[in-house]
Parts: sequence; C-alpha cells; structure tokens
Amino acid sequence: MPDVNGAVGVSITRRGYLRAVAAVRVRGDDTATVSRIGEPARLRRPDAARDLVGSIIIGSGMDVPDTIVTNDNLARVMDTTDEWIRRRTGVVERRFAAAGEGASDLGARAGLAAIADAAIHPEEVDVVITATMTPDFLAPGIASLVQHKLGLSTVAAYDIRQQCSGFLYGLEMADALLAAGKAETALVIGTEVHGGFLPFGETWANLFDESPHPPTEAEYERNTRFRSWSVLFGDGAGAVVVRRGTDEDTGILGVRLRSDGALFDLIHVPGVGFSRRPYVDASQLDAELHLPSMRGRELFRNAVELMPDAIRGVAEDTKVELEDIDVVVAHQANARIVEGVRRALGMDEDTVPINIDRYGNTTAATVPILFHELRMDGRIPSGALVCFAAFGAGAHWGAALYREP
Ligand code: UT7
Repeated sequence: MPDVNGAVGVSITRRGYLRAVAAVRVRGDDTATVSRIGEPARLRRPDAARDLVGSIIIGSGMDVPDTIVTNDNLARVMDTTDEWIRRRTGVVERRFAAAGEGASDLGARAGLAAIADAAIHPEEVDVVITATMTPDFLAPGIASLVQHKLGLSTVAAYDIRQQCSGFLYGLEMADALLAAGKAETALVIGTEVHGGFLPFGETWANLFDESPHPPTEAEYERNTRFRSWSVLFGDGAGAVVVRRGTDEDTGILGVRLRSDGALFDLIHVPGVGFSRRPYVDASQLDAELHLPSMRGRELFRNAVELMPDAIRGVAEDTKVELEDIDVVVAHQANARIVEGVRRALGMDEDTVPINIDRYGNTTAATVPILFHELRMDGRIPSGALVCFAAFGAGAHWGAALYREP
C-alpha cells in the first residue's frame, strides 16, 4: 500500500482563475502527482478581446538552406516512395542545413531579413524571442546566440519551447510585452534544424549520392523503422518584427493558446532528459530513446479537431465571423491536416494555403515562413484578416487573429 500525503486548497491565480488544488504525493511506486480538482472557475476571460491596441507586424523574413532533399532521395535509404510521401503528407521536397549549422544560424539570418524588411535599425529591437525544438545545444537555448549573431546589445532574449506552436506562443509573448510597455519593438523567430535527430547516420551521404556504397541492410532497416516521421521534417527559419500598434482595429486582435499535458506522448523524445541519471548514456542510445516517438494517427486526429476549435474560439473572443477571415496561416505538419482544418471550417482552398510541398514540416518555422511568403506574394494587403493556427508536441495549440494595418 503506497504512502499518500495530500493537501487541498483554493487559490486565485494572477490571471483571475479561481482554482481548487489538490497536491497529492504518492510514495512507494515512484510516482509523484499533482492534480487539480474540477474545472477552474473563471472570474474573467483572459482570451476576450482587449481594450488595448494590438501589436503590428512591420517586417518579415525567412531563411532556408540551399540543400534540397527530394522524396526520391529518401527512397535511396529506406523503404518508401515518392508516391506514398506525396499522397499521405503532401511533402515533395525539404531542405537540410549543413552539419555544423544550427537553428541559431538560420534564425539569425531570418531575423536579419525581417529587420531589413521592416526598414529599422537592429538597435531598435529591444526584445528577442526565439522558438525552436532543435536548439544548437541542449542548454542553454538559442535566444542569446541569435541576439549575438545579429549584433544586438544586451537586450532581453527569451527561448520558447512550444514546438510546432512555438511561434504563436512567441507572438503572444511579444504582444503582451509591447502592450505592457516593457518593449517597443520585438523580434519573434521560429527556427529549426532537424537534421541532428533524423536517424540517417552514415546514409546521409547516400541521400546525396555521395557514398561509394549503398546503405547496408541494417542501415536500410533502421531508417525504415523511423520512416513514418522522418519523411516529414525539414529545416528552415521565419521571423517577424512586431511593434506596438496605434489603432484598435488593426494588429493582433486576439490570441487563444491552449496546452494539455495529457497529450504529452503524442510526439516526444523519450530519452536524453534530466529526469534520468545520467541524462544520457549508452543504454538510452542503444534503445534509440534520443529519437522522437510519435503516435501519428492520434496526433493527426487531435490536430484536425483542436486547431479548428482554437480558430472558432479566437473568432468568438474577437467577435469576428469565420467568413471574414481572408487567410489562415496554419502549421504545416501534413497537407492532409491542413485540408482537414480547412474542411472543418468550411473554407476554400485559397483561404488556407499550403507550402509543405517545398519545405516539409519545419516545426516552429512553418507559420512565419508561410506568412512571409504570402506577404511577399501580395496576399496580405492592408485590411486583410489573417488567422495564425498551430498544433503540436506538448500538446500545445492555438490560434491568433491579426488585421494587417
Ligand atoms: O508537427 C507535429 C508532428 N507530426 C504530425 O503532426 C504528424 C501527424 N500524423 C501524420 O501526419 C500521419 O499520421 C503520418 C504521415 C505520420 C502517417 O500517415 P498515416 O496515413 O497515418 O499512415 P500510418 O502510420 O497509419 O501507416 C500506414 C502504412 C503502414 O503500413 P501498413 O502497416 O499499413 O502495412 C506504415 O508502415 O504506411 C506505412 N508507412 C509508410 N510507407 C511508406 C508509414 N510511413 C511510410 C513511409 N513510406 N514513409
């Protein structure tokens, strides 16, 4: 019989929630659980449209590596086909950074492009927010590296670890800092270099036809074991410069962010973490716990349900009709997920664009890259109502509504 210590209390959180909390510690089976009793009663709705003016995006930029890997290239090192990958995911090709290049390098280049597009001096940036799940080092994060590579002074630099939803979380943080008067100009970057966690090992050379011999049977089998997720990812970075708006009808109108730890294992890296002692060892590597583990179908199902939910929610919060949304900039994890979101919302193909065919899933970078491309294509004219949406590891998801000034 395990030992159970419990405590129950009621607290009002800083955001206005009334919360009943039970802290339960169970000894004897190695688990420690903290659980919440019942649904928190809200004293006010933090998602509701604010009185404050929303922040505006004054510049955007992106950076993707030159090296393109097609589906046929992948088929050299695992049992897959161009036809399967296109039909099930929409990906046609993806880019990979050179070994030695990190998310901070791509992020800094995207950031610089956004600063140039905004036609501001880098010194005007007074907070840097970087979102990545593939930092150059396990610790610390990349925000200070990006800041340094951009030649910015010692301004605050935040790392965001919300994976596919990282850019959205970063955008809300920038908006909140600007609204609170803590900053005038924020640089928000989503950037990823996934190559390091792809299982290709020696067969990277085969992808580029640079190996004197074909993959061994063992290499081919190992790559095939991870094919359901390894064919999805690519490298890239996108960035925006955000500034306090002047008009309450434009800029960021509302953001609805959600998280659910019960969905944590939909996609996660099960090993190489600090709850282990040591945090990395040969047994973890042998068991390949340093590679992502994904429950693809469940992830898919949750994404096509919860992204539309968040979009409907933020539209309700801001009193916007779904029909008035001009473009949905949705996270690009799988073209069929984007299609599912589009159908759930009853929107046409033009309103929910897809660019996963060219870059694959670039995690925190998909949303700012797609936004930048649409902006450069003239798809975000003055007055356009843009909806950003994402779902991914954590699970974290959300949506934001933005009116271009
Ligand atoms: O940003 C967040 C990260 N990821 C996501 O959001 C991903 C969400 N999930 C998905 O996009 C899809 O579930 C996948 C693309 C990952 C998989 O597509 P699916 O249609 O759910 O396929 P499945 O996993 O159910 O596999 C169907 C078949 C299996 O073969 P059998 O058992 O039917 O013989 C797989 O072994 O397809 C096989 N398969 C492949 N075949 C060729 C899985 N991956 C591949 C592959 N090439 N790359």
